[in-house]
Amino acid sequence: MKNQSPAVTLSQDQLKTLVGVAALAYVLPGEIIGVGTGSTVNKFIEALATMRGDIKGAVSSSLASTQRLQALGIPVFDSNEVDELAVYIDGADEIDGRGYMIKGGGAALTREKIVAAQSRRFVCIADESKLVQSLGRYPLPVEVIPTAARRIGRQFAELGGEAKVRMIGGQPLLTDNGQIILDVSGLDIADPLGFETLVSQWPGVVTVGVFAHQKAQVCLLGTATGVRTVTYEESSLRT
Ligand code: A5P
Repeated sequence: MKNQSPAVTLSQDQLKTLVGVAALAYVLPGEIIGVGTGSTVNKFIEALATMRGDIKGAVSSSLASTQRLQALGIPVFDSNEVDELAVYIDGADEIDGRGYMIKGGGAALTREKIVAAQSRRFVCIADESKLVQSLGRYPLPVEVIPTAARRIGRQFAELGGEAKVRMIGGQPLLTDNGQIILDVSGLDIADPLGFETLVSQWPGVVTVGVFAHQKAQVCLLGTATGVRTVTYEESSLRT
């Protein structure tokens, strides 16, 4: 009988660790690294600590990531202190075959988009449950000014969506920017670029969680057989 290695099933947490560690390959010594937010990025931050002596520091997309970075001795810079970043590493709630994403499950979408916009390359780290054919199954996070929430909810209803204010402890969750989040279900976002452009223009919208203008150039996808590297065409749409 042939020797067969037993099939190993990695947990979602292990897949996140796998891609978090794999992302170190995109960290250039001497650089300041753009760092996202979320449970997958937390694995990356832990791994990044092993390179803390080789990098200048990080620009962080949230107070939560800033605290983790600083606790590990990694200096954190404000976005305004840095003109351009070579790489931004962040997770996603959904990513499609073109590198377009839904983000904001951790409520950090506004600063995530800001740091992504100042980065030459977005490397997305995700387990394969995040890969989708078309964006919209995950309720779309949209950061809004509270006084505009009702009207924006009606505008989403016209597109077939249902918007709910994200709550925590019986109160609307407040973002790092002091605004609220609408989670919009029931959308099918076939044209992510057009959708992002449209919703971003609605008065009161701070940030829509579609990342099409700031899409990923690379995705490190955690799969049962290891890390799959998916490369998308370079985007010049860093606006
Ligand atoms: C944070 O606001 C989000 O954009 C995260 O990047 C996204 O929700 C992925 O988070 P996880 O890595 O925790 O799944």
